[in-house]
Amino acid sequence: MITTSLEVAAQALSDGALVLLPTETVYGLAADASNPLAVAAIYRAKGRPSFNPLIAHVADLEAAQAIAVLGERALKLARAFWPGPLTLVAPIRAPELVCDLARAGLDTVAVRVPGHDLAREVLRGFGKPVVAPSANRSGRPSPTNLADALEETGFAVSAALDGGACAVGLESTVIAVLGGQLRLLRPGAVTRAQIEAVAGLLSDDQDASDAHRSPGRLTLHYAPDAPVRLNATDALPGEAILGFGAVGSGAFNLSPSGDLAEAAANLFALLRAADRLKPSAIAVAPIPNEGLGEAINDRLNRAAGFVG
Ligand code: TXA
Ligand code: MG
Repeated sequence: MITTSLEVAAQALSDGALVLLPTETVYGLAADASNPLAVAAIYRAKGRPSFNPLIAHVADLEAAQAIAVLGERALKLARAFWPGPLTLVAPIRAPELVCDLARAGLDTVAVRVPGHDLAREVLRGFGKPVVAPSANRSGRPSPTNLADALEETGFAVSAALDGGACAVGLESTVIAVLGGQLRLLRPGAVTRAQIEAVAGLLSDDQDASDAHRSPGRLTLHYAPDAPVRLNATDALPGEAILGFGAVGSGAFNLSPSGDLAEAAANLFALLRAADRLKPSAIAVAPIPNEGLGEAINDRLNRAAGFVG
């Protein structure tokens, strides 16, 4: 089942089977976006509520424009950050290529061009959009290496590609580009400041319907089994500590030098490693909330069960 063959992976997608696909952010559980049966198998394997729409992955900007209506601001973002960890939500142009189930019935589609060579080669070989949510079971931390991906949803796939450890380690930034407005639906590796520098100000109308438009923003997403205690400066007896900088010099320091990119890349793998010790809780050191820290704190707040 573990394969290095792009042909085997592309053939599995054509057959309606699921594939573990490495990307630069996290491993995805991939399927043919146009095939409702294959998409249903993703929801089943993840135990995911069917109202949560999936991201369509394509090989390049041209393929993205074939499925989504990208306006001027969307195109600026696409040119600046693709291939890379940015997802754009825009009106759907080709509903037959990204089926209703994949979009959870919405008239919009989330699309991205992943920044991992292997992923783009599979997409090019397959020739059609591929939906790929993070390969974790619903509500668990996203897998950032093949072993963790296999442990989560390996039972459901007929091919698994090894792309090494994910360089970014956090899911893509999701931006809605609708009605000329930009809205941040999920913070990620591309920061708020980077987005605004390229395409102008984000709108700040986080109304209640946003929670529904991007259900990745549900509470208690990304949670390990152990409870998570934030902004800890020390471990209490029985706790494991996930450190940062000078806090928590143990095995699970996200970045001893205090580097946010390194902390993002290590976050999910170290959360899992700490969780395997079955501690009474996972204590997490304070992470500065600037730049990439916004996305790291977003995931940590969800792991701790706070509303974001
Ligand atoms: O980095 C990533 O984005 C990874 C890798 C595998 O590409 N994928 C990923 O997919 O994180 P997933 O399914 O776990 O997260 C998709 C996010 C969710 O928050 C979902 O609600 C949002 O994108 N989304 C998808 N389609 C949407 C739409 N039409 N409108 C609003 N939000 C949408
Ligand atoms: Mg996910």
